Amino acid sequence: ITLDQKHPLVTGATAESRLVRAYQGVRQEVTPVWFMRQAGRSLPEYRDLRVGVRMLDACLDPELSSEITLQPVRRHGVDAGIFFSDIVVPLKLAGVAVEIVPGRGPVFEHPVRSAADVAALPRLDPAALAPVAEGVARTVAELGGTPLIGFAGAPFTLAAYLVEGGPSKDHIRARTLMHADPEAWRALMDYTSELTGQFLAAQIAAGASAAQLFDSWAGSLSRADYLRYVAPASAAALSRVHGVTYSAGGETRTVPLVHFGLVGAGMLPSFRTMGTDSRQVDAVGVDYRTPLDEAHALLGNDVTLQGNIDPALLTAPWAQLEAATRDVLSRGRSARAHVANLGHGVPPETDPTVLTRLVELVHSIDVSGPAA
Ligand code: CP3
Repeated sequence: ITLDQKHPLVTGATAESRLVRAYQGVRQEVTPVWFMRQAGRSLPEYRDLRVGVRMLDACLDPELSSEITLQPVRRHGVDAGIFFSDIVVPLKLAGVAVEIVPGRGPVFEHPVRSAADVAALPRLDPAALAPVAEGVARTVAELGGTPLIGFAGAPFTLAAYLVEGGPSKDHIRARTLMHADPEAWRALMDYTSELTGQFLAAQIAAGASAAQLFDSWAGSLSRADYLRYVAPASAAALSRVHGVTYSAGGETRTVPLVHFGLVGAGMLPSFRTMGTDSRQVDAVGVDYRTPLDEAHALLGNDVTLQGNIDPALLTAPWAQLEAATRDVLSRGRSARAHVANLGHGVPPETDPTVLTRLVELVHSIDVSGPAA
């Protein structure tokens, strides 16, 4: 894909933003911060908008998706919006029968269990992504100098939902299929990686200034299975949007890509590259289990770290949350640059005033001098 003249990285609106520059490896005096799942049920203004509207209908209404994306940016003063949508939206737009059941997650009418099921999956017509592109374009027009992050579910996370037919703790059916019928598995990964790549490309083309791949369930795989059965598909999806260039500050830069997974330390090194493709992503999202200085030792100097305040602390006493946040920022100084975030999504029961206070705290901590 190429960026058009109105893209905020091309016009310069977001090109020098803290978030984009930190992803690109330029350490900022003030640490940029945003939260996974910052939009959604923790906000009363979100719950008001969602009354009588199903989750996927909200995602496909450009006016609603845009307004919901903007709510946490206005309220908390975070350094980025993340487009309000869901990892199953491209499946829905392809024509797969899926609903998001409140309190449960995505549920599929016809779980995919065989080669024939895979072959019957409907392809996504790129034109069907119009409501996503329109939602992104509206949002970007409102955001001005604040960058919008686009995202997609990684091919394995999507495939795991399709095979299980819904949320699952261990993804055992998906893990069985990859060994029992590797051909069907490969066809399924080809299918989901195509959707992931299309969804990312549509958001970047429409105005997103960065994109994050959510490889949420990769941690249920052994490293060997991840590398053999999954990483090639993540590489194929990310290569669709890798190295998209624009010029700013007298140089050629690329749209930053972030790879996040709940994978613990063992698989983290595999997340620096694009799966089996040896080209690197710009930033790795670290979950709350691996301290950032340890992540830095595993990942090296040429990647930005994002994370990783434990979401459990959002409902702990402020003193505990503040101490944990100072610790995360201090450990994050080992990396070339750091984008503060949680180690996973905002829990729905979070008091939103705590998030606002957390943004103020992160912005008030000076990380410009040499690390202690
Ligand atoms: O602020 C944001 O982060 C924006 C958008 C976003 C949503 N889902 C909105 C959403 C993003 C990036 C996602 C990603 C997503 N969705 C993932 C990967 C990230 C992760 O958490 O590991 C996964 C696995 C899903 C699938 C999914 N969708 C689940 C498990 C659920 C929760 C179901 C529930 O009710 O608890 C959803 C629904 C969903 N996606 C909600 C939101 C705001 C809640 C819907 C509601 O308000 O009723």
